[in-house]
Amino acid sequence: MRRGVVIFILVNILIITFLVRSVFTLLSLLVEDAAADAIHRSDIPSPNSSLIETRPQIIPKIIHQTYKNETIPEHWREAQQSCIDLHPDYEYILWTNEKSREFIAAEYPWFLDTFDGYEYPIQRADSIRYFVLAHYGGTYIDLDDGCNRRLDPLLAYPAWVRRTAPTGISNDAMGSVPQHPFFLRVIETLQSYDRSWLLPYITVMYSTGPLFLSVVWKQYMGDKPSESGRVRILMQDEYNRHSWSFFTHHKGNSWHGKDARLIFWMGGHWMFLTVLGFVLAGVVGFALWWAYGRLLLLGAQYKYRYRKIPGAATVSRSTSPLRMPNFLRRVSAKKDEECGVSETTYELYSRRD
Ligand SMILES: *[C@@H]1O[C@H](CO)[C@@H](O)[C@H](O)[C@H]1NC(C)=O
Ligand SMILES: *[C@@H]1O[C@H](CO)[C@@H](O)[C@H](O)[C@H]1NC(C)=O
Repeated sequence: MRRGVVIFILVNILIITFLVRSVFTLLSLLVEDAAADAIHRSDIPSPNSSLIETRPQIIPKIIHQTYKNETIPEHWREAQQSCIDLHPDYEYILWTNEKSREFIAAEYPWFLDTFDGYEYPIQRADSIRYFVLAHYGGTYIDLDDGCNRRLDPLLAYPAWVRRTAPTGISNDAMGSVPQHPFFLRVIETLQSYDRSWLLPYITVMYSTGPLFLSVVWKQYMGDKPSESGRVRILMQDEYNRHSWSFFTHHKGNSWHGKDARLIFWMGGHWMFLTVLGFVLAGVVGFALWWAYGRLLLLGAQYKYRYRKIPGAATVSRSTSPLRMPNFLRRVSAKKDEECGVSETTYELYSRRD
């Protein structure tokens, strides 16, 4: 085999090993069905069942929501009100930009620089929900999720998040006891994921959004948490698909405009995007391989000409001080052949072996 090919393959193996190592969790998410931690529908008493009363309620009765200020847009008031109305005995906290920043400054000052430094407001809206869950516990609900029934049965688990299709978890509805190890891990991990990925959507998804949360979740599960550290998964049917589901989706206009809609779209399709990324990487790899092969070949021809035909080389150098473009050189090699130096191709073959 050509030495150049061996080097090329080795370099590629190194790069691929590095890439696979860094995206291993992402890849393993592809095959994670969360079945082991799913909250089974038979576990959830029907909306008015007396069984609800008999279950422990360990998550505090607090509902957290976020918006930039106190003025909730019209299209979300109904959803917001449905949660408030169903839970008169719950504390309700709306985390506005100002309140969020004060909270971080007072309780988690080590995070304040990162929090202020986030390029997109949605990153602050994402991160604040992890902090308030880790701190106070309770249930976080996105403003576009209305409540369809009381959350009480979900208070029985130390922590729960919601499953997204086809894989991974989302951060639009989740619950936790205070100081739950998973959410502690999440807030500790945020800083190391605060990176820019060129595209705003990927940056948001992977620094604070559902993709970030899914990766931390997958790694957390790898540590085999104890029963009290377990994170239970609310499956799609129980989330918002049926009359007995917990939430209803209100498709309001996004409060961040088009950008956020794209982010949410990407949130729903990140697995597709990941696969697309790998295909692109494959195409780029192939193109590199092809270009590398061409270069090797040209290099071999070039070296050959100047080493093996000293007479011709001297002549061509003295007559053309500028480097000739490749196609011209090929012509000049042909001329050499006509002049009786005909080993060019033959010699090239021997260099390849
Ligand atoms: C549960 O009870 C409430 C009132 O207490 C009632 O409005 C609702 O229809 C009941 N739901 C079901 C599924 O029976
Ligand atoms: C909240 O923000 C909106 C626009 O972004 C503004 O119209 C509204 O007055 C603000 N509300 C408060 C209470 O500052």
